[in-house]
Amino acid sequence: MSRVIFPEWTETLKKALRVLIIGAPVYLVLLLVLGVRDGKAIRIGYQPDQPVPYSHALHAGDIGLDCRYCHSTVEQGAKAAVPPAATCMNCHTSVLPQSPLLLPIRQAYAENTPVKWVRVHDLPDYVYFNHSAHVTRGVGCEKCHGRIDHAVKVAQEVPLTMGWCLDCHRNPEPNLRDPEKVTEMGYIPQPGEGAAVMKSLNINPPTDCSTCHR
Ligand code: HEC
Ligand code: HEC
Ligand code: HEC
Ligand code: HEC
Ligand code: HEC
Repeated sequence: MSRVIFPEWTETLKKALRVLIIGAPVYLVLLLVLGVRDGKAIRIGYQPDQPVPYSHALHAGDIGLDCRYCHSTVEQGAKAAVPPAATCMNCHTSVLPQSPLLLPIRQAYAENTPVKWVRVHDLPDYVYFNHSAHVTRGVGCEKCHGRIDHAVKVAQEVPLTMGWCLDCHRNPEPNLRDPEKVTEMGYIPQPGEGAAVMKSLNINPPTDCSTCHR
């Protein structure tokens, strides 16, 4: 009967509606689990192209420059400063002074303008993070940025979600080392080192909301 009253295309419509009705809860669950997350915070593996193919593997790995040679504010401030062209020119006025790859650096240096590095890690604006609070208390760079000394090109290594922050704030001990060693890569703490640091620096990471949302 219905086939007589309703034209053929309504069958297609009914099929489409069925898919929608069955699909909607699945979609909602996916939205809740994945969608409400800030896309930038969870983008593990995000590895944007940079204006200059600067290699941490070469400079921090092979040459062995300390992170603080370039990221000089990491122990004092909330932000870890990305170095100006002048820092690169300390060497590159004499090392490979004609390299075409270094042209953007020479230009920024001559014109006193910033190099247009593309941000890799980027928490949402409503999250407060502070580098000095971590690196002066024995949390090594590699805990959050991985083996940068092996990175030809920087990628995000960890999820940077609230759950990831809280996991460590609730149980920091396994992640702590002598604060003198925070920039050392591949560091293996002595047995009991975390517990000792925790005690001597009286470490107790807060978990109340206002710590990270202020
Ligand atoms: C010779 C200077 C220099 C040294 C030494 C250096 N870096 Fe960098 N770092 C840079 C520059 C330039 C950038 C921006 C370009 C890029 O992302 O590759 C950067 C970017 C980064 C980023 C990504 C920042 C973002 O945009 O999210 C991290 C993380 C980082 N460095 C960590 C380290 C660590 C850890 C060390 C020590 C093992 C280190 N760096 C040593 C110059 C340096
Ligand atoms: C302590 C000295 C030193 C500093 C500081 C330094 N570099 Fe280098 N850089 C080197 C050396 C050494 C090489 C390798 C030279 C070679 O391969 O013969 C190199 C190679 C490079 C190359 C490869 C160039 C090519 O033509 O192959 C790039 C790109 C580069 N550096 C970028 C940077 C940037 C960007 C900075 C600043 C954030 C920087 N470097 C700071 C010493 C330095
Ligand atoms: C507890 C985790 C953690 C540790 C330890 C840590 N970082 Fe970061 N780093 C982050 C987060 C999170 C961001 C993104 C911050 C934002 O978006 O506001 C970041 C961003 C950066 C940036 C980009 C500039 C900025 O401040 O946003 C650089 C460069 C950097 N880190 C270098 C380092 C170096 C060098 C060390 C060790 C001396 C280090 N970090 C230790 C979590 C960490
Ligand atoms: C690997 C361990 C670890 C991770 C991951 C981590 N933290 Fe922490 N955080 C600590 C430790 C340890 C302290 C120092 C606590 C103390 O001094 O008692 C700290 C302190 C802080 C402080 C300063 C609190 C205060 O008032 O002194 C802030 C803010 C903070 N963390 C935010 C974050 C955020 C945001 C993230 C995630 C993006 C994060 N942390 C990830 C270990 C961690
Ligand atoms: C140690 C740091 C830290 C603490 C403490 C913290 N947050 Fe967050 N929060 C984050 C980070 C980082 C993000 C962004 C990444 C993400 O979405 O997971 C976030 C995201 C959020 C969001 C956005 C929704 C979402 O899932 O993206 C809400 C809402 C939120 N937090 C509420 C809270 C409340 C309520 C508390 C206290 C019970 C709290 N946070 C404590 C770090 C923290």
